[in-house]
Amino acid sequence: MFYRLMYYIVLPIYVVFVIFASISLEKTQNTFFMIVIGLLFITSIFLERIYTRLFLLIASSEIISLLLFHFTSQLNWCYSIYIILLSKFLFQVKGAVKGIFLGFVFMIFYTAIRATYSPVNSYSIFGVGSDFLTSIAVVLIIQYIIEMETKKNTLIEEKKREEIQHKEEKGKLIAEMAAGLAHEIRNPLTIIQGFLQYSKEANYNIQPWYDLIFSEVSRMNKLTVEFLQFSKPDVTQYQAYSIHECLKRVISLTKSEAHCLGHQIVYTEYNPDLLVKMDFNKMVQVFVNLINNAIQSMVESGHITIRLFKVGNLAVCEVRDTGVGIEGADLKKIFNPFFTTKSEGTGLGLPICQKIIQDHGGTIEVSSTPKYGSIFTISLPLDAGASYALDFAKD
Ligand SMILES: Nc1ncnc2c1ncn2[C@@H]1O[C@H](COP(=O)(O)OP(=O)(O)O)[C@@H](O)[C@H]1O
Ligand SMILES: [Mg+2]
Repeated sequence: MFYRLMYYIVLPIYVVFVIFASISLEKTQNTFFMIVIGLLFITSIFLERIYTRLFLLIASSEIISLLLFHFTSQLNWCYSIYIILLSKFLFQVKGAVKGIFLGFVFMIFYTAIRATYSPVNSYSIFGVGSDFLTSIAVVLIIQYIIEMETKKNTLIEEKKREEIQHKEEKGKLIAEMAAGLAHEIRNPLTIIQGFLQYSKEANYNIQPWYDLIFSEVSRMNKLTVEFLQFSKPDVTQYQAYSIHECLKRVISLTKSEAHCLGHQIVYTEYNPDLLVKMDFNKMVQVFVNLINNAIQSMVESGHITIRLFKVGNLAVCEVRDTGVGIEGADLKKIFNPFFTTKSEGTGLGLPICQKIIQDHGGTIEVSSTPKYGSIFTISLPLDAGASYALDFAKD
């Protein structure tokens, strides 16, 4: 946008301005020639855009017509046209050294033409020095702009690539889970179908099996509900929230169930200043899942201890229980979709937690001692410079 404004509007206007100035100040010796050359120069600028393949030819005609234009207009203000044209070429030339060389070539041309109409004295010699220094400054500024542009474009491309990869991974996982889900649902469906068929054909009384049938149906329902949560399209808008507020919400949601079953939730160590860019509700879901697992793992009354602290640029949150713990062989599988050791379980809780945490750029780890309990540790990158959105979290 600014590039076009500069070369296709400002530059032609400037050429017309020099033509008028040169005529009005009676500098030019050949008005007709100056106007023709000026127009030729402007035309080459536009032609370059249309015939990109003839770049070298058109660029040469731009330079030659500029030199002739300067020669006939006899005005030092042509300097700005040299600089604008130089800056245009600098976008094609890579590297500061080549750029400075090109700048010097332009300045030599300019100085040579200027010497044809301007007297050589100490003022004009200092003027030459200033012109050369200005050309170096222009080259460096353009190089800086090019460098910034390149960096920005690389970052944008990287982000796009990451997004595509993320979508692909999610798609693959959903496909895998859908296959798993179909498998999980088929077994109870076959059982229920068998009962119904038997009852229809042989008038078999299935009343004693009602509880079993209901529990299978509710398990299928639970599976589909959790799966839907997982495959919901990602419209997440991350905002900076206090992870402490998030944990307070989680505890208020799970406290009563824990108390009913004789367990205690202890939030010992906390830090209200740790802000993390997150989807607040999804993060609540993660911790509720962990605490539910912890509650389910404790046969006798026990403790769930939550700690929140900072390690480097990470917010670390630990959820520790005094439950049955996890055997070594199971420990490797607990994040696999549909892995469960519970009769009523779906095996989707932890994979969902892991996915959400990964989407937030964090990690979830587990360590466990059978018979003594487990520790789930979540690490999330701290938000670099935010102190907003806390109010929403407190609602
Ligand atoms: N805090 C915990 N203590 C003991 N085992 C756990 C704990 N959390 C998870 N597990 C094990 O991991 C399995 C998978 O958990 P999850 O994905 O939440 O599915 P679900 O709770 O439906 O079984 C559980 O069945 C259990 O064996
Ligand atoms: Mg669970």
